[in-house]
Amino acid sequence: MAKKKIAVLTGGGDAPGLNAVIYTLTKTCILKYNYDVIGYKFGYRGLYTNDFMPLTLENTTGIMHKGGSILYSSNKDNLFDYKLMENGVAVRKDVSHVAVENLKKEGVDTLVVLGGDGTLTSARDFSRLGVNVIGVPKTIDNDLLATERTFGFDTAVNIVTEALGRLHTTAESHHRIIVVEVMGRNAGWIALHGGLAGSADIILLPEIPYTLDNIVQKIHERDNRGKLFTIIVVSEGAKELGGEVTVNRVVADSPDPIRLGGIANKLTYQLEQRLGEEHEVRPVVLGHTQRGGETSAFDRILSARYGSYAARLIHEEKFGMMVRLKGSEIGHVPLEEVIGAQKLVDPNGELVGVARDLGVSFGDKPVNRAK
Ligand code: F6P
Repeated sequence: MAKKKIAVLTGGGDAPGLNAVIYTLTKTCILKYNYDVIGYKFGYRGLYTNDFMPLTLENTTGIMHKGGSILYSSNKDNLFDYKLMENGVAVRKDVSHVAVENLKKEGVDTLVVLGGDGTLTSARDFSRLGVNVIGVPKTIDNDLLATERTFGFDTAVNIVTEALGRLHTTAESHHRIIVVEVMGRNAGWIALHGGLAGSADIILLPEIPYTLDNIVQKIHERDNRGKLFTIIVVSEGAKELGGEVTVNRVVADSPDPIRLGGIANKLTYQLEQRLGEEHEVRPVVLGHTQRGGETSAFDRILSARYGSYAARLIHEEKFGMMVRLKGSEIGHVPLEEVIGAQKLVDPNGELVGVARDLGVSFGDKPVNRAK
């Protein structure tokens, strides 16, 4: 019987842990199940242009700890609505049939897709076309409802926590207010976990609209206690009560075209106006540093568990599934059930409560307790 061939691709924004999944999946497929493995480059684009590379024990060795993706990624190329140039004019077409033909031509048995909501939506659509698909949940935002954890999130939180440690010492030396903008789109998980672990004084989340009055009140409350500096962590998707999110750019070809960003600068300006000579205010935008560098130990292990379980699903011929973490167990859930279901921070949830107990302000009400 011919050897099975497994294909992998990484789509959407990169997240630390992609390489750890590629490493574990490749090794398990080759050593345990005797499959061949190939990787399509630049996400779905490579599936359309048939741009792939063999994945072997040799070319995947030593990648477990590395951020990024050895297969590269793209967050623009939706093959069901793909931008093409025809006679010098840009048109959008469904080119998914080309991808299906390429998979057949290469003799691919199963396609393993590592991605977030946009990438997994296409994975579900390829599954509907009859392709054997397994999804693996990735995003630093940790906003997929069907899994407790996406890989990449823990690394991002560690980077935010480390940055806050550094910013504390410089903020304190100058009695400054430092406004630290973190990623997460319209989910506040990175801000909440990073802010709590890094001892932020104020945490602003998309899920809890804030007022400037409450932020200024918290700064004054700290001043009164002789804490003459304040660290504010603001999620890129946070907004003032009755206000709108701050949009940085629109990426037209992306399944989710709105890119948030800029709120730290906006808030810095507003606070300078309100605080006058009382305090200097500085913005810090952590940006893509949250996705770069080495993968945390937690994310390496989670990714290894996902990669190993994905290989098992292929062996058991359970297709159209996404690997997921539920409680402490790795399992699977139909791709049909995971799309479009976003996991947001519960304003009345445990972690928000813990932070409030510590005197952290979410900018939604005055804080009187000492922190
Ligand atoms: O979804 C991951 C993420 O890093 C978000 O937190 C952020 O809003 C967005 O991607 C940034 O996208 P880009 O890499 O296109 O700037």
